[in-house]
Amino acid sequence: MQVLGIETSCDETGVAVFDSAIGLVAHHLYSQVALHEQYGGVVPELASRDHVQRLLPLIKKTIAAANTDLKSLDAIAYTAGPGLMGALLVGTALGRSLAYALSIPAIGVHHMEAHLLAPMLEKDIPTYPFLALLVSGGHTLLVHVTSPGRYALLGESVDDAAGEAFDKVAKLLGLSYPGGPVLSALAEKGNSKRFHFPRPMTDRPGLNFSFSGLKTFARNTANIEADDAQTHADIARAFVDAVVDTFIIKCRRALKETGLQQLVVAGGVSANKQLRAGLMGLMDEVAGKVYFPRPEFCTDNGAMIAYAGYLRIKAKQKETLNFQARPRWPLATL
Ligand code: KG4
Ligand code: ZN
Repeated sequence: MQVLGIETSCDETGVAVFDSAIGLVAHHLYSQVALHEQYGGVVPELASRDHVQRLLPLIKKTIAAANTDLKSLDAIAYTAGPGLMGALLVGTALGRSLAYALSIPAIGVHHMEAHLLAPMLEKDIPTYPFLALLVSGGHTLLVHVTSPGRYALLGESVDDAAGEAFDKVAKLLGLSYPGGPVLSALAEKGNSKRFHFPRPMTDRPGLNFSFSGLKTFARNTANIEADDAQTHADIARAFVDAVVDTFIIKCRRALKETGLQQLVVAGGVSANKQLRAGLMGLMDEVAGKVYFPRPEFCTDNGAMIAYAGYLRIKAKQKETLNFQARPRWPLATL
């Protein structure tokens, strides 16, 4: 079975072909970073317009790279939510129309479920059940995964998502958008002993997160201290250390409460070097195992959508022509 995957939920146009007999056969990404950079964040209207321009050529390119043709496709999977409404509608309308024209099924995929499944595209994969930490620009979720499609939410951010906090702290330090990777690189030059930021919500029971206070802490520190390059690096380091430590503490707690021994970490922030190292250390400590997607599949991409759609079709999920894009769509309702 060959599934075409389409991702247009935010600022990347992603397309891929997944073949159930071979695995991932082709994937292409068009990033809108240059388009939004001058505004310091994603401008939703510009994002939608750009998806309209990029999507068809990217589908053609990916189909060619996969050495297949439209008629050989068995299904089309597209991101139906959560995300920016206008951006979602581009992939949804195109995905469903193409499927209708080809008389094949179309499946609306949940973007965070796709992130969660991205490590399954690697060689060494987890077995069910496992704990999943999903850390993206819009969501921070701790999920107990019992089987494909069965997700119990254990914790989430009560305010900013982890990626959002990275982007905001990067912005206040004058770094370019998206801030996550740049802030992470800057943190490597920082001194971990100079500032100590709090580990939010770790001193009370529960598995929820809060990151907006860390952003304020970073801003207050920047306002008091000298405005030089080393200070910026030291603030970046204190922020990254606090985020990583918080995730270690909460994951350790969740593993203990659930008795799970495998941890899946996915979403844009899972590309973060310091976080990967910290969580690998944790899983060594508890004699468990951690699974990440390869860095290019941590951030948004079409491959994870094609794969998540394939699993849904294999599970015999069917959808009517009456489609819906869902900017808000809780994972646990799947
Ligand atoms: O999953 P993703 O591509 O899009 C959403 O679904 O939101 O995640 C994007 C987020 C951005 O906030 C970006 O700054 C962050 O992931 N990010 C990182 C890194 N790479 C991407 N944050 C920290 N370190 C990184 N290396
Ligand atoms: Zn994403």
